Amino acid sequence: MPTIPNSATGAIITGWGTALPEKIVTNDDLSKTMETTDEWIRERTGISRRHIGGSTASLSIESARKAIAMSGVDPLTIDALILATTTPDRAVPATSSTVQHGLGLRCGAFDINAACSGFVYGLVTAHGLIAMGMRKILVIGTDTLSRITDWTDRNTAILFADGSGAALLESVSGPGQLLGWDLDADGSLEDLLYCEIGGKLKMEGKEVFRRAVRVMVDSAEKSMKSAGVTADEISLVAPHQANIRIIEAACKRLGIPMERTAIVLHETGNTSAASIPLALFDAADNNRINHGDNVLLVGFGAGMTAASAVIKWHKP
Ligand code: COA
Repeated sequence: MPTIPNSATGAIITGWGTALPEKIVTNDDLSKTMETTDEWIRERTGISRRHIGGSTASLSIESARKAIAMSGVDPLTIDALILATTTPDRAVPATSSTVQHGLGLRCGAFDINAACSGFVYGLVTAHGLIAMGMRKILVIGTDTLSRITDWTDRNTAILFADGSGAALLESVSGPGQLLGWDLDADGSLEDLLYCEIGGKLKMEGKEVFRRAVRVMVDSAEKSMKSAGVTADEISLVAPHQANIRIIEAACKRLGIPMERTAIVLHETGNTSAASIPLALFDAADNNRINHGDNVLLVGFGAGMTAASAVIKWHKP
């Protein structure tokens, strides 16, 4: 299990922003085009509506602009841009290049694809780059899953949607916010959820559900252990927003009551790499996180990836 070297330069989040497309698709809208009902979707997933539209670059630029404005940093002093996405706008170049140009940055930019775990992968990577001497890094999680969703498949169309969340990280002297982390993947499970290039998402929903609970709990436990904190010391969990029943099952096993979770999936559906930042920053905007609180971020996704981090919240 990795531990953070005492000598490492730490980082804190000093600004954040989110973006959701304007167009809202309700469960009732879906029930007009496929065999499903609002009641079934809400009961089995917790989702009521989702936002659809935009491109990965346009949503990323919108959320990142807000994060930069909130932090007050000069965009030209940002050292790197990391975009976590599983739905790039083009195969080449990386969508992070389009976002970098759109924001007027002059810095290294690259995409990370770890599916729905991508934002946490990006956040941990950014801390590593800051430990190596960078000072300001933009981490964005954005997905436009509606573009690779088969809108005739009720197994997947009820779940997936579009959105973006961005965080501006700045280096600090001392250990910073990241107390513990875990990154994981099991490629032998890749057939449970995949999309061929140019194709649409295919999913074994039941098996994903079963595995998801297990990998979320495993990853969260590793992060809490490496952070040296117990479940009782976690003030808020920002879990991947895939299905409320997955979150309930994982939190029950972790011993964390649902009152301590950040939930937006009823409004957003599963927005993949955007889902953890959307939940985390919704909680922050609603004053649900106090300075010094331990916050657990935990996600899972295709691949089958899992990632988690325990951060000590610094209120900007
Ligand atoms: N509307 C109405 N009925 C539906 C339906 C829908 N959208 N989808 C399935 N059903 C029906 C099934 O046909 C089945 O009917 P039957 O009992 O007559 O055979 C019944 O509802 C139960 O189906 P099941 O597949 O067992 O439902 P479920 O409780 O497993 O829920 C998912 C399906 C997809 C919502 C759930 O498995 C899930 O969320 N899995 C994880 C997916 C996920 O998180 N993916 C992203 C990973 S990042």
